[in-house]
Amino acid sequence: MNYKIALIRGDGIGPEVVGEAVKVLDTVGEKFGHTFTYVDVLMGGCATDAVGKSYPDGTAETCKACDAVLLGAVGGPKWGSDKPAEQRPETALLAIRKDLGLYANLRPAALRPAMADACPLKKETAEKGIDLMMVRELTGGIYFGKRDKYQTEDRGLECTDLMAYSEKEIERIGRRAFELARLRRKKVSSVDKANVLETSRLWRSVMHRLAAEYPDVEYEDVLVDNCAMQLVRDPGQFDVVVTENMFGDILSDEASMVTGSIGLLPSASIGDTAPGLYEPIHGSAPDIAGQDKANPIATILSVAMMMRYSFHLPAEAGAIERAVDAVLADGWRTADIAEPGVTPIGTRKMGELICQKLRG
Ligand code: IPM
Ligand code: MG
Repeated sequence: MNYKIALIRGDGIGPEVVGEAVKVLDTVGEKFGHTFTYVDVLMGGCATDAVGKSYPDGTAETCKACDAVLLGAVGGPKWGSDKPAEQRPETALLAIRKDLGLYANLRPAALRPAMADACPLKKETAEKGIDLMMVRELTGGIYFGKRDKYQTEDRGLECTDLMAYSEKEIERIGRRAFELARLRRKKVSSVDKANVLETSRLWRSVMHRLAAEYPDVEYEDVLVDNCAMQLVRDPGQFDVVVTENMFGDILSDEASMVTGSIGLLPSASIGDTAPGLYEPIHGSAPDIAGQDKANPIATILSVAMMMRYSFHLPAEAGAIERAVDAVLADGWRTADIAEPGVTPIGTRKMGELICQKLRG
């Protein structure tokens, strides 16, 4: 098969990690008889520098003409929150999610076997294993609600950000979570703040309706503050965790840290029709950009998710994941995950080693 992939290399370490992921894609292509062709898409701070805005006209259309999108990272201090919205990389990120209808953000947080020592939690906790899938709603809630900023008579400036959710938006993300749970350990934990928020009460009632449709899946409600605590107390209890946009933003960073290696974690953002978008969870790390120091594994594992969720190629996905685990098991480490005393290897070397394992 021939697959067309949009590459948003982006800012900071983005181009380097995408470069290694492309090598892995080409190796998978050779091994399994697929052809991957690439279309470069300019987006992020680099686009602001080149054309004056982070989300150039036609970005969504170019991506929609592809079968999947791979994104390295966008952002950096150069295009900070003091800049106008159209110049900020975050604006582009939110716009592409909305334009491609990517309402489901899957962020697996798993302790890879060779990396168990990197888990910052107690040994007994790590030994139970961590393998959860955060399912974050990505195109609704407070991120996309109406914003306001106005002068009051006696309180100075005042701002509001509206959090809105419809039954339809909740149901479609809920279904994704239950369907995913069926392919995993069959447990859904739905996270909300139903003791305070109206949107959360609606969220909970829709989730309960769905839970009745999936009697084979164990279901629980978890309040968001309690979830934050449980994630460090006993993350092994979670399988699929589904939650609204902002809670998911915060909890997915927490979950990633619990595995001890944010440089290893991939993500997928998917909708119903448009191409899915795959990206590492880590940011653009401008401090180490261009130095061959970044860890390409999160991006390479994002390619594995692309194989699985966009192209329905589970064998190819598994081969990539096994190659990564094999290189880690051999003791190779980039600087971010190197144990004391281990000499780290660079971005390119890590990419090459993974390709070598893939070739077998
Ligand atoms: C993420 C990031 C983004 C978000 C920012 C950069 C807008 O933190 O993908 O988690 O909040 O969604
Ligand atoms: Mg975030």
